[in-house]
Amino acid sequence: MSETRQKFDGYAQKYDEWFMTNEHLFTSELRLFLKALGDIKGKKLLSVGCGSGLFESYIDCSGVDGIEPSRDMGAIAEKRGVKIIKYGVIEDVELPDNEYDIIYFNGSSSYIEDLSSVYEKCLKALKKGGKLILLDVPKESAFGFMYLLGKALGTYDHEYLDGAMPGLPYPLPLASSGIWHSTEEKINVLKNLGVSEFNFYQTLIKNPMYTNEEPEDVSEGYKSGGYVAIVAAVN
Ligand SMILES: C[S@@+](CC[C@H](N)C(=O)[O-])C[C@H]1O[C@@H](n2cnc3c(N)ncnc32)[C@H](O)[C@@H]1O
Repeated sequence: MSETRQKFDGYAQKYDEWFMTNEHLFTSELRLFLKALGDIKGKKLLSVGCGSGLFESYIDCSGVDGIEPSRDMGAIAEKRGVKIIKYGVIEDVELPDNEYDIIYFNGSSSYIEDLSSVYEKCLKALKKGGKLILLDVPKESAFGFMYLLGKALGTYDHEYLDGAMPGLPYPLPLASSGIWHSTEEKINVLKNLGVSEFNFYQTLIKNPMYTNEEPEDVSEGYKSGGYVAIVAAVN
């Protein structure tokens, strides 16, 4: 727990600034987030690892509960209207059965080791007809490779990466502490938990160096994007 806290504590401001500087990249991710969530009117949602609630500040979050291990990040999310039900990791939280219409992990699965037990808990907490939504940088994407290379080298400032990096890359400590999962790894975890109905959406199709030139549209599928949404239906 304390280790997870360390990951994002102290980064709250940097995290938001990074998105604000990479504003077109942010718009592309926000479009994906909105597309994956769909109509949330009257629905009860849970944002697992809601961070600073940056994305939630673009939706009506009156029905959004949050779980967040970092106090720094969660305090900002609360100001933005997310109701934090627990300052801690999802692994330590007990969720009521059949409570939520939508549970989503926006970038937080990439910091969780054992996805199976966590997703199982969330599937139980969803109402029939509910949705579990997983948005992440896939391990197999260009962004995933870049973060893993940065992690292996201990820096982005390396001759291997000369002329190939975006202007302001995701902070190295956050890239390095990620546990980057592939999309198919997550699909298989969900299939093993009995999920059979999926939709997939993606954005950030351009190479990382060019993603902030202009906002991108959302397309269906998961095999090209640097940010991918898995929408799993619970029946
Ligand atoms: C990449 S940030 C995403 C934050 C926010 N969802 C957003 O999209 O701006 C990942 C978040 O997951 C949180 N996190 C990391 N491990 C977690 C865990 N085991 N349970 C819940 N949240 C976790 C981090 O503290 C961080 O706020």
